[in-house]
Amino acid sequence: MAFELKSSSIIREWSGQVHPALVASFVFLFCLEACLWVRNLRLKRRLPGPFAWPVVGNAMQLGQMPHITFAKLAKKYGSVYQIRLGCSDVVVLNGDRAIREALIQHSTEFAGRPKFVSFQMVSGGRSLTFTNYSKQWKAHRKVAQSTLRAFSSANSQTKTAFEQHVLAEASELVQVFLHHSTDGRYFYPAYELTVAAANLMCALCFGRRYGHSDEEFRTMLERIDKFGETVGAGSLVDVMPWLQSFPNPVRNVYETFKSLNEEFFTFVKDKVAQHRDSFNPEATRDMSDAIIRGIEHEQDSLLTKEFVEATVADLIGAGQDTMSTAMQWIILLLVKYPDMQAKLHRLIDDKVGRDRLPSVEDRSSLALVDAFIFETMRFISFVPLTIPHSTTSDVTVEGLYIPKDTVVFINQWSVNHDPLKWKDPHVFDPTRFLDENGALDRDTSGNVMIFSTGKRRCIGSQVAKVQVFLFTAVLLHQCTFEGDPSVPLTLDCSYGLALKPLQFGVRTKLRGKLLGTGSPA
Ligand code: HEM
Repeated sequence: MAFELKSSSIIREWSGQVHPALVASFVFLFCLEACLWVRNLRLKRRLPGPFAWPVVGNAMQLGQMPHITFAKLAKKYGSVYQIRLGCSDVVVLNGDRAIREALIQHSTEFAGRPKFVSFQMVSGGRSLTFTNYSKQWKAHRKVAQSTLRAFSSANSQTKTAFEQHVLAEASELVQVFLHHSTDGRYFYPAYELTVAAANLMCALCFGRRYGHSDEEFRTMLERIDKFGETVGAGSLVDVMPWLQSFPNPVRNVYETFKSLNEEFFTFVKDKVAQHRDSFNPEATRDMSDAIIRGIEHEQDSLLTKEFVEATVADLIGAGQDTMSTAMQWIILLLVKYPDMQAKLHRLIDDKVGRDRLPSVEDRSSLALVDAFIFETMRFISFVPLTIPHSTTSDVTVEGLYIPKDTVVFINQWSVNHDPLKWKDPHVFDPTRFLDENGALDRDTSGNVMIFSTGKRRCIGSQVAKVQVFLFTAVLLHQCTFEGDPSVPLTLDCSYGLALKPLQFGVRTKLRGKLLGTGSPA
């Protein structure tokens, strides 16, 4: 009782002082920030941009969809401007001209990655995707790129082998979808698409795939889609590290990120260890073997053996989330635009027929399928901002000076919705990618930015394009897709490195006879 009395009197005593003290500190910080902001603007030391609040900077202004906010700010401040997130100054690049000037003309200056704690968490700090630009990074990227090429497009034999893997995975997906649609049920396809995308990469990396019902594999993939919430541009944990010190939603997301990284990396390390034990330099079984050979058995390699598992983790990790997201949007848009779906069905029936599955060779006669895919990538821009970059030295873009080690956000969405490049950018129209002869217009499709450009351009873009084409063509050849009429179909999505559609219901019906290929892995 005495204690209660004492403590309540202390609270009373302090409540009169703490509050004014807090307000006074805030006002002081605000004034200081405002003076510095005006001074730097006058001295032209600061790029244009909105006023940054003390402590949080512009973090509270990002909104649910930072890429849309960034595009709006570009209308006010120009294509190149600066914001502050927590303790980091960030330059945001918008629009086709500024982004290509930065990433192509100044490719080395913009090839860095920021020193974010979350980036250092990935693959024991040896990730190709999340480490800074250096001689070692160049060697790492070369190994990953040449291995991926050797197993997908190096010659006609590897092209065919890769195609067979994709076709086998797509055929299995058809069966899984039909199973989920038994008795006219609706289902949410996201998870099965993640399993399919991960399986394809596992087939290439480990020489084996996992069944859709493999519990260990499914459990590992269950939370993998949460990865992008932390590494996407605008994630706050890296710019406000103090958020880790008390319970809050940002800390929860970060804890999940740490544990899923550990789980996934342990899975990869285990498989690589098995490969190392049975490695035979005379026989390269799969990409893991090729990477072991490229790193561990190469003289003067700048990479130690720990980079092997990091490379494999990079390839599987980078490929699966983006690929499954791409396929989720494709299915959603097929359902949303049934006339387009019917048109694609007719085209595939006409050019491929009903007795075999589509193949890469059919690509030129199925230009509308590719046009539909490019329009999905442009319209949704499901990787709206690239992974954050940083400047490797001082540089000038559009006449504006950006110092070394500045964090840079690159707004791909703004390139794909730039009214100077696209007629009616907010209208979904796949035919914009067809020329007057009905063929794919390469100039127009080259203007879509989803794989970034320059030194950090996605190394899987060619693989991804073949994969998305074959998945889409096989699914359309075999199935019709219908939306659940009880759930309104929207384009609303959750934000992260990739934009994911909110849950939607779909069901598939078999069109004609079921065709399969049998898995090569
Ligand atoms: C539709 C599918 C895909 C999309 C939209 C996509 C998009 C991207 C984007 C935007 C980046 C960041 C570039 C930057 O920071 O400037 C990236 C990086 C990367 N992607 Fe992809 N990607 C896809 C599929 C794949 C696949 C299938 C693989 C591998 C098999 C892959 C491997 C990588 C790697 C290793 C990087 C890091 C490159 C670096 O930092 O040097 N991606 N991707």
